[in-house]
Formats: sequence, C-alpha cells, structure tokens
Amino acid sequence: QGLHALAVKAGLQFFGTATDTNNFNDTAYMDVVNNKNEFGILTPENSQKWEPTEPRQGAFVFTNPDQVRSLAVKNTQQFRCHTLTWFEQLPQFVQTTQWTRETLTAAIRAHITNVVTHYRGQCYSWDVVNEAINDNGTFRESVFFRTLGTDYIPISFDAAARADPQAKLYYNDFSLEFNSNKTDTAVRIVKLVQDAKLRIDGVGFQAHMVVGQTPPRATLVQALSRFTALGLEVALTELDVRQPELPASSRALEQQSADYASMVAACLNVAKCVGVVVWQFTDKYSWVPSTFPGTGEACLFDQNFVKRPAYTAVAKVL
Ligand code: XIL
Repeated sequence: QGLHALAVKAGLQFFGTATDTNNFNDTAYMDVVNNKNEFGILTPENSQKWEPTEPRQGAFVFTNPDQVRSLAVKNTQQFRCHTLTWFEQLPQFVQTTQWTRETLTAAIRAHITNVVTHYRGQCYSWDVVNEAINDNGTFRESVFFRTLGTDYIPISFDAAARADPQAKLYYNDFSLEFNSNKTDTAVRIVKLVQDAKLRIDGVGFQAHMVVGQTPPRATLVQALSRFTALGLEVALTELDVRQPELPASSRALEQQSADYASMVAACLNVAKCVGVVVWQFTDKYSWVPSTFPGTGEACLFDQNFVKRPAYTAVAKVL
C-alpha cells in the first residue's frame, strides 16, 4: 500500500510529491512517481513559476509545466499548481522595470490571468501568493511590497479567482508551523483578502523542517486550526525534514521518523487539513543539500530509492 492510498483511507484527500520534467528521464524515479497509490497529487517543483512561464513580458511558455500536468492526467493524479506571486525565481523584467502602482498591478494581473487561464479547470489548487512574510512577522520587502504595499496580495487573489472559479486559492509559506508572529501575519493576510470580499480557500504550510526541531504536534494543530477557524482548508505543501548532521546516525533516523510522523499526524488531527505534499521524495533530487549546505537526507527515500525508516513511520501513522 502506498502513501496516497493510505492517506485517502485515513480521510485525507491526497498525499503527493513535487516533481518536474528534469527528473522525467530517470526510469527508477518515474516508477515511483507513476504509482498513484504512492503519490496522488503532483506539484511542479519549478516549471510553473513566474520566471519560466513568462521569461519576457507578455511571452508565455508552458511546455514544461504542461508535461507535468499531462503526466498527472495520464496517471489520474491531481495537479497542485505552484506558484504565482513570489519574490524569487522572477524574470529579469519584473526585477528591473521602474514600476508604478499602475504598471505593476497590470503586470501582476496579466501574468496571473494568462497562467491561471491556461490551466483553468485543471488545478486542484493554486499557490497564489508565496512567502510574503519575514520570519519575524513583518512583510517581506519584495518588488511587490515596495511598489504596492500589501495591496499586491488582494490584487493577486482577485486575478486568480477571475481566471479560474474552480481552483482552490492558497496563501503558501514556510515556518508557519510554530504558531509564531509569522503565523499571526498569515492570519492577517487571510483577513485582508476576506475583508476585500475576495476568495481565499486555503493556507499551505510548506513544512521545510529540521530533524529534532519540528514543533510539538499540538502546536502545529493549533497553528493549522487558526486558518480552518476562518473557513479555510489547510495542507502541508512542501514537507521535508532535513538532517543537520551527515551522515545521519541511527538515532537521528529515529528522530526523523518521529518528526515526519508527527507532522503528518497533526494534519490528520485537523478536519480541514486536506493533505500532504513532500518536496521531492528522494534525496537524489532534493533541493536541500544545495540550499542548506551540510544538511540533507531529508526525504522519505534515499538517493537509491530505498525507503527510509521515516517512510514506514508515515505509513504507520496514516
Ligand atoms: C525550490 C526548488 O526546490 C529548487 O529546485 C529551486 O532552485 C528553488 O525553489 N519554497 C517554495 C518552493 O515555495 O518553490 C521552493 O522550491 C522551495 C521553498
């Protein structure tokens, strides 16, 4: 039994993974991705972001994300779309143009309208705004915030809602898991959108964690519940739990198993936590070692596609 099949039996809508076309010629890898009982929803790890989809203003490229979508369709998996307004992986023109309120608003609207319309009716959800908050709870100084203040957030949700009435619209961020100042600001974002009479359906907890430093399950349940109390659904959208010291000892592998299991259990404890997506399932393609040097072994499968103890722990809790 795979993780998605187990998750569905446990009452979740999905257990899935991030993947992308640069992985698609690896047959051992694809054997796992193509098993919809293992992963029932796919998220493009990179190809659907602003830089690859609109590298030059007004010129849209969907070749790679279309391939991820086609794979999901072929495998009868769901498709979790990621992401629209984010301060990273932006094309040159977004970073260098001297924007006014009017021109940047138009650029955001044009980007979102084109991309969301292209995938209309095919995304379970869209991460409309990604990572708008600093870890201390203040708003991130992006080109969007500098030019528009927080207005870029409702502007983005409005454009997405108009382009696809079906896809669930999410705010997505990391480190919301500890119910901290950052979580408070995410609540403010939800209210900001709701007060503008616009649609927001979910909050994604990315859940990029460190072994031994995951929140107590009750804390995560509390943090998730703050959003379901506002009428939203929640999900763990980019789960991985990296080892701070390599290679991991057997003690560290046990801790990682407990940490993975407790993260998934928290989702199971919240009625409107709809599912879990891991940010790649094998160390072979994990973003962790290059982004957090010296750390790694963060995935449910090792680089040879051998299941870690954490895999068994997650299967057991589901
Ligand atoms: C990461 C990808 O995994 C990397 O391959 C890429 O170089 C940078 O982006 N939060 C997000 C994801 O929302 O889009 C990021 O993905 C990881 C952090």
